[in-house]
Amino acid sequence: MTDKATLTIGDKNYDLPILKGSTGPDVLDVRKLYGDSDHFTFDPGFTSTASCESKITYIDGDAGILLHRGYPIDQLAEKSSFLEVCHLLLNGELPTADEFAKFERNITYHTMLHAQFDSFFQGFRRDAHPMAVMTGAVGALSAFYADSLNVDDPKQREISAHRLIAKMPTIAARAFQYSQGRPFVTPRNELSYSENFLRMCFSVPAEDWVPNPVLTRAMDRIFILHADHEQNASTSTVRLAGSSGAHPFACIAAGIACLWGPSHGGANQEALEMLEEIGSVENIPAYVQGVKDRKYKLMGFGHRVYKNFDPRAKVMQKTCYEVLEQLGINDPLLHVAMELEKVALSDPFFIDRKLYPNIDFYSGITLRAMGFPTNMFTVLFALARTVGWISQWKEMFEDPSRKIGRPRQLYTGATQRDYVPVDKRG
Ligand code: SDX
Repeated sequence: MTDKATLTIGDKNYDLPILKGSTGPDVLDVRKLYGDSDHFTFDPGFTSTASCESKITYIDGDAGILLHRGYPIDQLAEKSSFLEVCHLLLNGELPTADEFAKFERNITYHTMLHAQFDSFFQGFRRDAHPMAVMTGAVGALSAFYADSLNVDDPKQREISAHRLIAKMPTIAARAFQYSQGRPFVTPRNELSYSENFLRMCFSVPAEDWVPNPVLTRAMDRIFILHADHEQNASTSTVRLAGSSGAHPFACIAAGIACLWGPSHGGANQEALEMLEEIGSVENIPAYVQGVKDRKYKLMGFGHRVYKNFDPRAKVMQKTCYEVLEQLGINDPLLHVAMELEKVALSDPFFIDRKLYPNIDFYSGITLRAMGFPTNMFTVLFALARTVGWISQWKEMFEDPSRKIGRPRQLYTGATQRDYVPVDKRG
């Protein structure tokens, strides 16, 4: 196997080393190309670009494989817990019982927020989108936890990572309660991570909150499914922000802002609103025709990497059935979703473009059944993805070859010209 590629430009040849990973595509190392050839590579959507080396998550889009530190997502969703997956993503290995107990205690004892932080929410309108609140609130954490902002100190990096994983549920629950006009609920240390979150979202002072183990398990599994996903748009945002030396609270706030986009994490809200707009199975053919006429996209379908199926979507669909059955809900939108999936998967327009349901297609029905309004769906995605973002940020920071990210461009604007006084224009 050759270990280099040769690029010919004009009468010159340039050797590009081929770097091999433990699995997946090899890469052409173009780091010296501009210096040697005065040419940039051009890849605006990063469709053919590896932005970094990573050991955290591996995706095989054709085979529908998603591994976290080598463990398949369906095994983790079935057998692990979100907090155990957090340890795996952050530290590289599944924890021993003692390691997990220590990690869980660390996270549990960081779940409270500074008392003054609660007044921060009062600055938002009650009808503000919870993602607007999350973007602001998480960015403001650095104003309250300034003792862990020194990114060059490994101990402070670890404390920031634990604080973010621990406080995201408390902040997300406050964003939800605030939008509902309900009082904030303090975390409880005897509850598990997902149980604590559901209690902070749904308990009211007027009565005791009773946990539902099926819903707790479903929430935990949904968090696992959303925990990390290689170098997606929001993770790349976090890495780029972090490459400047920005502290983790600012980087995660940038990731939240990027995730909100409808093509990315905002798709779970859009997908459910699409199902509500379709309304019934009878309306599916007309809606699908609108997709084919390019009037709109089929939200919850398609993926830059998965060109076969999204392994998370299969687990999400199973979780959806379990939750609806547990709650005794016969949601007509589930029938619309299942029929829409069947129609799309048999239509050449979608088959030719390799469009399959992604993680966002069934998550909305599940979350709505659990009692979350659509504007909370992306907040839940951000809550879960925080561990992926901070693990990728940590990995980037610990890479000795780390450099500030500074892409170049293909310039097609005006070439140099002299200033024209206003009386000489027009
Ligand atoms: C997430 O990257 C990640 O890993 C993200 C994520 C994660 O965990 O971090 O997995 C989470 O963001 C999942 C994706 C959620 N987004 C949606 O469900 C929104 C709908 N999907 C599309 O916007 C789209 O599929 C993307 C953005 C997800 C992927 O777009 P690509 O890879 O840039 O593909 P493309 O736009 O080049 O599409 C190729 C063709 C085009 O048609 P042609 O111009 O070639 O004729 O497929 C069409 C597109 O128009 N197409 C769709 C479509 N998605 C792509 N047509 C209709 N409906 C769709 N959903």
